Amino acid sequence: MEPTDFPKILGFCCRWCSYAGADLAGSMRLQYPPEIRIMLVPCTGRVDILHVLRAFELGFDAVFVSGCHLGDCHYLSGNNRAVKRVAKVKQDLAVMGIEPERLEMFHVSSGEGPKFALVCKEMFERAVKLGPNPVKRDARAAWLASQGAVIDRPEVNSTTTLTL
Ligand code: FES
Repeated sequence: MEPTDFPKILGFCCRWCSYAGADLAGSMRLQYPPEIRIMLVPCTGRVDILHVLRAFELGFDAVFVSGCHLGDCHYLSGNNRAVKRVAKVKQDLAVMGIEPERLEMFHVSSGEGPKFALVCKEMFERAVKLGPNPVKRDARAAWLASQGAVIDRPEVNSTTTLTL
C-alpha cells in the first residue's frame, strides 16, 4: 500500500519501548496505515514542545508521542515529562484553532506490537475524521467544501501568542 498526501501522521517513538513495539508489529506482519511516519527518539522526555508544534507547522495532520509505560522509562521520568508536555501542547493547539485531538500520548512496550498497530489505526482514523491540518489552508478549504461545511470557527491565526 502506497502512502497518500492526506493524512500525514508523525509518531515520536522512544528507542527502548515503542520503537521496538513498531518493529515487532512489522515482524508480526501486522497491517497499519502507511501514512504513519516514525521518528526515533532516545526517550519521549526528549520530545520538546517545539518539536510537536514544528510538526504541525510542517503540515502533519496528526502527531503522537509513544513511549514506555509509566514507571518503565529508561531515564526514570522522561515519559512523565512527556505526558505533561503533550497536555500543554494540546491546550496551545486549541488556542491556535487546531483540534487538540490531533495530538496524543501513548504508552507501548517493546512486546506490544499489536497495540502499536492499534495506536497507528486510531491516529489515522482521527486524522481522517478531522480533515487536513488547518495550517494547510488550501487543502483544508477544499476538504471543508467537499464536506459541505461552513467555516464557523477561526482558522489558524499567525499572530496568536503562545506561552511556552
Ligand atoms: Fe522510553 Fe523514556 S526511555 S519513554
